[in-house]
Amino acid sequence: MKCILGIETSCDETAASVVELTGTVRSNVVATQIPVHARYGGVVPELASRNHVMSILPVVREALNSAYLSWSGLAAIAVTQGPGLIGALLVGIQTAKSLAYAFKLPLIAVDHVEAHVTAAMLSNPKHPEMPTATPPYVAMVASGGHTALYRVDAIGNYTVLGHTLDDAAGEAFDKVAKMMGLPYPGGLAIDRVSREGNPAAIAFPRGMMGAANLDFSFSGLKTAVRNYLANRGSFPLSSIEIADIAASAQEAIVDVLVEKTIRAARGEHVRQVVLSGGVAANHRLRERLSRRCEEEQVQVVLTPLEYCTDNAAMVANLGRLFYSRGEFTSPDALDAYANLRIGSPRGIRVRESP
Ligand code: KG4
Ligand code: ZN
Repeated sequence: MKCILGIETSCDETAASVVELTGTVRSNVVATQIPVHARYGGVVPELASRNHVMSILPVVREALNSAYLSWSGLAAIAVTQGPGLIGALLVGIQTAKSLAYAFKLPLIAVDHVEAHVTAAMLSNPKHPEMPTATPPYVAMVASGGHTALYRVDAIGNYTVLGHTLDDAAGEAFDKVAKMMGLPYPGGLAIDRVSREGNPAAIAFPRGMMGAANLDFSFSGLKTAVRNYLANRGSFPLSSIEIADIAASAQEAIVDVLVEKTIRAARGEHVRQVVLSGGVAANHRLRERLSRRCEEEQVQVVLTPLEYCTDNAAMVANLGRLFYSRGEFTSPDALDAYANLRIGSPRGIRVRESP
């Protein structure tokens, strides 16, 4: 069975993966740069690029080795073209172009957000009972850079139903965590400490919850947490207080994401709801959305944790779907700046908000 090699370097994870044309994941290697950026409290673009340069070839080699595959077993190379940090993207793109040229393989450029939108089409070997995403479905993609709701009718046929007007949900998690002195990445830290906290302890605002449209706004939450901390005074936060603030802020984000996703599913009359992107790893969001979907009698598809945060399996997956349609990218037309010109996944339409 021929395979697709996927390469992902849009932010702070150097990733490579081998996926069979049938959608079976043979390997999924992620070299995380979290320890590199943690001391700065966020991603430092130049450090990300340098670390991608150092890691990319060993990561690609490991992806092939752990898939027990040689270059002749590949049908094509898929790579994230954007959106992302330009210097970081450039490393993956140049590597993919060089390898494609050297091994005479076709190249497939993939949009990072589109890869998140379709990641749940991969099967979940650890949870075979979890269905795979099958269009038409509504996808909630919540990550560090993006938060939007999509209707997915087919590969390449997406409609944006709503999106954030300011910060992404992941950014809100990260900034709130930073204000409390929790380590980067903040979403993961809040997820952990919130387990001991009371989600109803503080009534933080639910931005745009009452609005008739499916758009989001998370900047007000950041301000509310900052004001709360400022009013409280400068003495150190106790672990109980940290847990309560984290649980309350998390609940404010989860409430809005769940409510708007359910509203989108109702409005679109779809039978499946898909949760993906880095924030989709959040335990409370997974729990709450699953419960609401059960009440609404729509099937929930929780993207497996390893395909939620940035990874190359989702890139190889989209690559195999384009491969099956004979859609390739000319190496001459592929550069890291192209995403600035294109700006959004191919086939994306924006539906006007009411
Ligand atoms: O998809 P992703 O890995 O990268 C982007 O494309 O942005 O998402 C990263 C974001 C970060 O903001 C991180 O804090 C958040 O996902 N995140 C989480 C969790 N794990 C990662 N947020 C909430 N709960 C988590 N468990
Ligand atoms: Zn991402």
